[in-house]
Amino acid sequence: MYGLVNRAVEGLVRSRFGDAAWTTICERAGIDPGGFVAMDVYDDAVTYRLVDAASKTLDLPPEAVLEAFGEYWTIYTIEEGYGDLVSMMGSTLNEFLDNLDKMHERIGDAMPELVPPSFRREALGDGSSILHYYSKREGLAPMVIGLIKGLARRFDETIEIELLEDQAPGHKQFRLRESAAGS
Ligand code: HEM
Repeated sequence: MYGLVNRAVEGLVRSRFGDAAWTTICERAGIDPGGFVAMDVYDDAVTYRLVDAASKTLDLPPEAVLEAFGEYWTIYTIEEGYGDLVSMMGSTLNEFLDNLDKMHERIGDAMPELVPPSFRREALGDGSSILHYYSKREGLAPMVIGLIKGLARRFDETIEIELLEDQAPGHKQFRLRESAAGS
């Protein structure tokens, strides 16, 4: 994945857990803490090793690290200069989700080696939706949960999100439901 992703893991750890935690995580993952280059491509294994080392160092399940990362990504990318693109892609959560593939396509113009996920939102009659998530990578569904939570906060919406059972490799489904504020 592009270094931007690993840099965001670094930003999350340093801001929430301190610089010493980041140094320990890099040591554990066998990675030079000197820093990642945002526009360089790194093996996916580097990111998975960072998540695993963060999970052990911070004593959190890997799913919790990934969820926190997803939520952080919605703030980090805006700080890194992608705010205009994000603003163009919708003013409600549903509209934004419907445009996610278009957004990664645009990002791919500047990052030709991007291997983006794909999303399709299926609106159900009762106002809820099924969000289909297709990826060439395994194990990142908790990151999607964090992403949706971060986006809901951005649009000031309150949403319940649930990963549905019986998933196929490469295709996960989430049930999204609006919930009353504060619940
Ligand atoms: C402007 C903001 C965003 C940027 C710049 C961005 C960019 C990227 C980049 C660089 C990757 C790594 C893939 C690679 O390097 O091959 C990635 C992966 C991913 N992105 Fe985005 N993204 C953005 C917003 C979002 C949002 C809002 C979502 C919400 C669902 C999302 C969902 C994902 C997921 C789930 C992955 C993991 C890869 C996978 O599932 O295979 N991204 N994105």
